[in-house]
Amino acid sequence: MELTLRPQNRAVRLEPGRSVLESALAAHLNLPHSCKGGNCGSCRARLVAGSVSYPRGRTLGLSEAEAAAGYVLLCQAVPEGDLVVEAREIRRVTDVEIKTLPCRVERLERLAADVMGLYLRLPAVEDFHFRAGQYLDVMLPGGRRRSFSIASPPHDAGLIELHVRRVGAGEFTERVFSTLAAGALLQIEGPLGQFVYREPADPATAGPLVLVAGGTGFAPVKSILRHLLETGVRRPLHLYWGARHEADLYQDAWVRERLTRFTELRYVPVLSMAAPDEAARYRTGFVHEAVLADFAQLATAEVYAAGPPALIAALQATLPARGLAPERLYFDSFEYAPDALARR
Ligand SMILES: Cc1cc2nc3c(=O)[nH]c(=O)nc-3n(C[C@H](O)[C@H](O)[C@H](O)COP(=O)(O)OP(=O)(O)OC[C@H]3O[C@@H](n4cnc5c(N)ncnc54)[C@H](O)[C@@H]3O)c2cc1C
Ligand code: FES
Repeated sequence: MELTLRPQNRAVRLEPGRSVLESALAAHLNLPHSCKGGNCGSCRARLVAGSVSYPRGRTLGLSEAEAAAGYVLLCQAVPEGDLVVEAREIRRVTDVEIKTLPCRVERLERLAADVMGLYLRLPAVEDFHFRAGQYLDVMLPGGRRRSFSIASPPHDAGLIELHVRRVGAGEFTERVFSTLAAGALLQIEGPLGQFVYREPADPATAGPLVLVAGGTGFAPVKSILRHLLETGVRRPLHLYWGARHEADLYQDAWVRERLTRFTELRYVPVLSMAAPDEAARYRTGFVHEAVLADFAQLATAEVYAAGPPALIAALQATLPARGLAPERLYFDSFEYAPDALARR
C-alpha cells in the first residue's frame, strides 16, 4: 500500500494495520501532528482518494462535519488500500534531519516522586540538530515508540535531557523507574514535532511570549526558555507552570534562579490540588485559568503550551476569547502512544 501526498506528489509505503501518520513518520515524512492520540486535530488532512478505517472509533479531533467534508485524522486512520492525501499543512518548520540513533543513558536523576530526569549521551560521531521544543521517540520492540520532549536547548546538544513522568503500568516509564540504569543503551528517533520556537520578525516589537507548562510539559518549555535566555533573545517572557502540588514543580529552584538574573522573565506557578499551607503561598486552580485571569488581551501574544491533552484542549477552548488567533497558539499535547491507546 502506498500514500501519495499532494501537492508534492511524494510517495511513501503504508504499513498494514498502522496509522497513516505512523507510516509517514517511519518514512521520515514529518507531517503535522502533536498528540498522536486523536484529540488535538493537528494531523487533520483531506483524503483525495482511497479509504481508511478508525479501529479506535471516532475521536475528538475530527468533527462530523469535517468527516463529511472528506477530512481524516491521520494519527487514527488506518489505510484500507492506496491513499492520496492532501495535508492541511505540509510546510516543514524544521530543516533538521530525522535520525535513528543508539544512545547511552548517562545518568538518571529523581526530580520528583514520579518524575525522572533521564540524560542521554549520543554517539560522538553523530550530529543531532534539533529546534527548541522538539521531542524524540524512544524505540521499543516491534517498531513501537514512546515520545519525550527534549528539555535541553539546541546549543547544548551533547547530553540530551528528558523529564519522564511515571505512568501507572506504563511499559517504558515503569522501566525508567525500576530497571533502567546508567550505561544502558536506548534506540531513539528524532528530532520530531512542530512545537518549536519561531523567531518573530522583530523581537524588539514582538508581543508577549506566554509559555504554559502542565507537569512534565515543563520539559520543552525549559528547552525554549534556555534557548531564549542563553542565546541573548530579550523579550517579555511569562512562564506559567501548572502542577498538583509544590513538590511537582520539580525544577522550581532552577526557574527561580533565572528570575534573579533575567528581568524579562516572569514566573507564575499554579497548583491545582493545593493543600491549605500551599494555597497560602501559591496561585491555585488550573493553570489556563491563571493565564485567562492575568491577560485581558492576548491579541499580540504568542502562546506556547505543552502538557496533558486536557490542558491543551482548555487553552484551545478559552484563549481565542482573549483575542489570540488559533495559529499563534503552539502546542504539544502529551498523549499516550498509539499502541497503548489501542490496548486501552
Ligand atoms: C509529543 C509528545 C511529547 C511528550 N513528552 C513527554 C515528556 O516530555 N515527558 C513525559 O513524561 N511524557 C511525555 N509525553 C507522554 C509520554 O509519551 C507517555 O507518557 C509515554 O509514552 C508513556 O509510556 P509508557 O510506555 O510508560 O506507557 P504505555 O505503556 O504507553 O501506557 C500508557 C497508558 O496506557 C495504559 N495501558 C497500557 N497497556 C494497557 C492495557 N493492556 N490495558 C489497559 N491500559 C493499558 C497504561 O496503564 C498507561 O496508563 C509526550 C507525549 C507526546 C505525544
Ligand atoms: S489528533 Fe492526530 S496528532 Fe492530535
